[in-house]
Amino acid sequence: MDTELLKDALPKIVTELPGPQAQALIERRSTAIPATIACGYPCVIARGAGAMLEDVDGNIFLDWVGGVGVLNLGYSHPKVVAAVSEQALRYFHGMMNIVTHQPYIALAEQMNRIVPTRSTPRQTMFANSGAEAIENAVKLARGATGRPNILVFNGAFHGRTLMAVHMTGKRAYSEGLGPFPDGVYRVDFPYLYRRPEGMSEEEAVRYYLTRLEDALLQASPPAQTAAFVLEPVQGEGGFIPAPFAWVEGLRALCDRHGILLIADEIQTGFARSGKMFVSNWWAEGGFAPDIITSAKSIAAGLPLSAVTASQELFDSLPPGLLGGTYGGNPLACVAGLEVIAAIERDGLCERSAEIAERARAAFSSWQEEFEQLGDVRGIGGMLGMEFVKSRVSKEPDAALVTAIVKHAAQRGLLVEAAGIYGNVLRFLSPLVITDLQLEAGLSILHDTIAQLTARA
Ligand SMILES: Cc1ncc(COP(=O)(O)O)c(C=O)c1O
Repeated sequence: MDTELLKDALPKIVTELPGPQAQALIERRSTAIPATIACGYPCVIARGAGAMLEDVDGNIFLDWVGGVGVLNLGYSHPKVVAAVSEQALRYFHGMMNIVTHQPYIALAEQMNRIVPTRSTPRQTMFANSGAEAIENAVKLARGATGRPNILVFNGAFHGRTLMAVHMTGKRAYSEGLGPFPDGVYRVDFPYLYRRPEGMSEEEAVRYYLTRLEDALLQASPPAQTAAFVLEPVQGEGGFIPAPFAWVEGLRALCDRHGILLIADEIQTGFARSGKMFVSNWWAEGGFAPDIITSAKSIAAGLPLSAVTASQELFDSLPPGLLGGTYGGNPLACVAGLEVIAAIERDGLCERSAEIAERARAAFSSWQEEFEQLGDVRGIGGMLGMEFVKSRVSKEPDAALVTAIVKHAAQRGLLVEAAGIYGNVLRFLSPLVITDLQLEAGLSILHDTIAQLTARA
């Protein structure tokens, strides 16, 4: 299908899934590529446009995963395609330790303008993946404070390099891969749906703040602690927002002890939350992180990640400590410039809020319909639904979510599970989705849940 038509198309499955061409490619994949790079979807992409992708057999899917939060601008945004094509004709590569190139400088300037870290003037360095941004943020925090330890949260996901995977809560991602880097300590995240029984939300916020103080008493004393690393909404961990009052308390605790606050906005950034970053919401409350990592939707699918912080922090590192061959690749940087321009020009933060309002209204009404839908939560267009076997026991129902993901794909809707128990469904629709596509996706998801819960 022509890209223009695909952009406005609705989901349409015309073969058994996987179709014959997809099946052949999936078989080649299983021979050529390690099975540990796991994939449960019957979908082999031929082209993408907006929120839609067409597979190699002509099936059309609505993609609510978007490469796990990479496609806030959707597939093949025409401005990004044009900028990358033009840059490709000039040069592909210019390693910043050898040859200075303009796209890196221009994008760093834009990031310094929009990324709301606390202290200015800001600077930004680029790397290739979210995990690399995390590694660099940790290096920066350790170098700037001269302290060795990093405090992370249960349920966190920070990537798959050895440091990042060790900072990640779910041990399934790292089992058998140790030894791991030293100096990482884990603290309870304020998972309000699963807070201790009998506590109000306000009491729970206070309780989780005391857990932070305990960590500084019992795990890593302040003089040894470089930073807390926090996802403003835990992504892989189950789309769990950190309550603003708790983040404010965490910020105050950091200030009391000279500890840095690193916000991992790799999944939450670039208009997903209804603002450019969740840290913009925090700024309205008068608190801000010292360092922000971003990636995923930053360059609409080209490999790019960033660490933004004050020049003062970066100046504490001697020359040569950060860098890398491909970080801030010119093709990715020109894509990044178009992403920021499109979000601002096309009002995608406002669109994210609109989509969120519609989706949240639907999900909340389903909560009345389906006993198994225990919780609906999120910030802006980053919404999660947690499924349980019983609302009283809150026993996670991962099997139901696995079945929903599988059946929705068969009807042309790609959605993904999340959560340490695998029982959360995540909503990460591209923000360029049309109203008709949004309604079509909600309708497929509703009918899939209705069918599977009736059977349960
Ligand atoms: C919050 C967060 N941090 C870090 C990462 C790692 O990013 P990457 O896969 O690009 O290394 C992810 C990826 O899902 C993420 O969601």
